[in-house]
Amino acid sequence: MNLLAGKRILLGVTGGIAAYKSAELIRRLQDQGADVHVAMTNAATEFITPLTLQALSGHPVHLDLLDTETESVMGHIELARWADLILIAPASANFIARLAQGHGDDLLSTICLAAQCQVAVAPAMNQGMWANQATQLNVSALIAQQITIFGPSEGLQACGEVGEGRLLDIAGIVDLTAATFPNERLRGRKVVITAGPTREAIDPVRYISNHSSGKQGYALAEAAIEAGAEVILISGPTSLTPPERARLIPVTSAREMHTAAMQEATDADIFIGVAAVADFRPIEASDQKIKKDNTGERLTLTLEENPDIIAAVAGLNDGPYTVGFAAETSHVIDHARRKLTRKKLNMIIANDVMDQNIGFNSDQNETTIIWGSQEQTLPIASKRTIATKIVGTIADALPEARQ
Ligand code: CTP
Repeated sequence: MNLLAGKRILLGVTGGIAAYKSAELIRRLQDQGADVHVAMTNAATEFITPLTLQALSGHPVHLDLLDTETESVMGHIELARWADLILIAPASANFIARLAQGHGDDLLSTICLAAQCQVAVAPAMNQGMWANQATQLNVSALIAQQITIFGPSEGLQACGEVGEGRLLDIAGIVDLTAATFPNERLRGRKVVITAGPTREAIDPVRYISNHSSGKQGYALAEAAIEAGAEVILISGPTSLTPPERARLIPVTSAREMHTAAMQEATDADIFIGVAAVADFRPIEASDQKIKKDNTGERLTLTLEENPDIIAAVAGLNDGPYTVGFAAETSHVIDHARRKLTRKKLNMIIANDVMDQNIGFNSDQNETTIIWGSQEQTLPIASKRTIATKIVGTIADALPEARQ
């Protein structure tokens, strides 16, 4: 599991011998899927070079409050807004004191002041400095400001003394970092979602398609991201803006969607097929525009079946938890249950597409979730609300199916 998939962490490095450990910390945070930007205090640059941390993080290191170069890439306010978590590791006694007092006289302290996200501090200092009453009062002030403290731990220190004040071990910092996102029920899960219609070419300018807007699939992508998942959105053509944190794979035809889905599903935890996949395609798309010859003759299109994408995913060995949608016009629950069994899905969401208030182009939906012997009807609500409920039901059902 990638415990920090898609998470944006601003790592603040302050001056102290433990600053060298920030290099390893960047790597371990990245191993868990985090995107890491680094801001360093001047004192930190005496212990480890910005170049090292830039190379490891893959982003320019932020150093000065008024640095025109990095400010033009991302200013301090923008950085504060960008981060899901600001992690100061190591945090020196001096920086803790300045943070406790609300100073804003360098880049890192200003970012902390402007932060709207959680701030966590991993202290590292000599045991005497840590035990000092002034430091302890400052730490209490940070706790009163809802700032989280990671560590410190005990042991042999760089100065040769033994005691409390060592930077918490890197694995411990990574675990606690992940634990600062507690309400994310799909944290560390890879979720693949298909959405929108597919287009099946007749010739270079014409195609067969359907009325799917993609709204329910995009809403599910947002809900899964909110639940902490890494989301891959395989989408047919729509006019929607994809959620910023989803990885979008744009496709046109059912066969393209099938290829992308099979590639992404092999290591996914959850697959949600919301796309209205065209069941048939013209046997051969003409490579030139088909002309009418004005003889009044009929044009016959011969169609062949497209692959059933979700059935193929459900058939994978050790495949993901698979959730389908059933667009039905009559006997909605019965037909949906049959589809659940026929396609060997774990869960299906039944939709009555004859109801004008819900379905394809509407912003509203009304569905019944069916899984195992259970059934839950969700009353009419926005597609986003329905999406959150579906994601919650999947998260509840998941532990039984796949750990
Ligand atoms: N689906 C798919 N690939 C297809 C057809 C459908 O992955 N070639 C998926 C849809 O994304 C949806 C589910 O299968 O999750 C059911 O789609 P639906 O159109 O309701 O069912 P069909 O399989 O097309 O069956 P029918 O047209 O007979 O109702």
